Amino acid sequence: MKNNVLTITDGRTDKTYSLPIDHGTIRAMDLRQIKEDAEDFGLMTYDPAFMNTASCRSSITYIDGDKGILRYRGYPIEELAEKCTFLEVAYLILNGELPTETQLQEWVYEVKHHTMLHETTKKFLEGFRHDAHPMGMLVSTVAALSTVYPEARNVLDPANRKLQIVRLIGKVPTIAAYTYRHSLGLPYIYPDNDLAYTANFMNMLWKMLEPKYLANPVLARALSILFILHADHELNCSTNAMRAVGSSQADPYLSVAAAAAGLSGPLHGGANEQVLKMLDAIGTKENIPGYIEQVKAGKLKLMGFGHRVYKNYDPRARIIKWTADQVFQVTGRNTKLDIALALEKIALEDEYFIKRKLYPNVDFYSGIIYQAMGFKPDMFTVLFAIPRTVGWLSHWDELMGDAEQKIARPRQVYTGSAERHLPAGKPTIGVTVSA
Ligand code: ACO
Repeated sequence: MKNNVLTITDGRTDKTYSLPIDHGTIRAMDLRQIKEDAEDFGLMTYDPAFMNTASCRSSITYIDGDKGILRYRGYPIEELAEKCTFLEVAYLILNGELPTETQLQEWVYEVKHHTMLHETTKKFLEGFRHDAHPMGMLVSTVAALSTVYPEARNVLDPANRKLQIVRLIGKVPTIAAYTYRHSLGLPYIYPDNDLAYTANFMNMLWKMLEPKYLANPVLARALSILFILHADHELNCSTNAMRAVGSSQADPYLSVAAAAAGLSGPLHGGANEQVLKMLDAIGTKENIPGYIEQVKAGKLKLMGFGHRVYKNYDPRARIIKWTADQVFQVTGRNTKLDIALALEKIALEDEYFIKRKLYPNVDFYSGIIYQAMGFKPDMFTVLFAIPRTVGWLSHWDELMGDAEQKIARPRQVYTGSAERHLPAGKPTIGVTVSA
């Protein structure tokens, strides 16, 4: 009969321990009983970069990296991308079930009625230099909302959490659009509640003097699909930041700002901007083999390739390629797509990439679409942050309701000096504390 127990013999003491196995894990705290002697602290695990550590139980997103599977609350990403709106998926991620028609109407109404920013927040944005990076503006402005909603600190009250969640999902696109308008020196455009989530975002980005801005429906739907694909991805770097900061009971505005800061790095959400820079640097198809050689020599990274979890084709990249075709029928083909396709083909046939299971990730094609739609590359990561706010908040809400969780506080392996002392002649400044 199957015995869900791990038996460990400590070679230092010859003692044997039985540790229960649950969901393919052992509890790290069960290792603490394994000691050399009574003085010993007990055994720990050492796992830099969390390569093999589960830090929570979560029922939000399921990924099978080997099979290239991604599901939100059990639903395959392909079905959600084909048949749902972004706010429908946001409701699903946050609440665990798809909304009924009435629930959806109420949810959309609520989000739409939290899209405006306090006028002082607009003034706050005005203080940034014209060339400030939009991610820096987004992170700081989301953090600044903490000062506008001080009651958000009451994080243990589920109803209060729900209000802040709706506020953030409503306001993040407005902040994102204002960072864009600010960098172009254009006046801010108020939200238009007649419009759907992505169409309203496009209105706040691109409305000029026309009385009403109506986004191209194909582009608005494409953006909605891209938002669905980016809404959650379980415990990536930014979601881990959200959970770590949230575990101190910081308010959700400060925690989302921390998560967005995590997203901004080029190894995470910042990769989409880097892909465009890389394609620009490559320039023509003829330069691809030389570029690949430099990657293989360890001098460069192929941005938009590789993933900590997916060791098979990222299912989001496949949907994005399909979306790109729809977008290019409206905008005309982005010439960078040809370089990207040629680069992908060569990389997928090369032993270096095959051996390391490196495939295009979600960011490889998203930037090409965003550029064709009219976004500047420094906005790409902001476009990632808008939908991922849903995932961050969903994880935060799950964390707050999880009785097993406490403040996140990893252990370290100390490798510094043993105790040592300042020179005997060094004079005291103020109080004497040592004997
Ligand atoms: N180009 C070239 N080589 C790569 C790449 C890449 N993009 N990614 C990984 N490798 C190589 C590594 O050099 C390493 O080779 P080695 O075994 O000879 O040392 C091997 O593949 C394993 O890579 P790791 O760095 O150990 O993988 P890790 O899981 O730590 O990193 C990451 C994952 C950060 C995504 C990495 O693949 C990367 O830097 N990719 C480029 C940036 C990127 O596209 N990020 C977006 C990720 S998706 C997202 O966050 C939305």
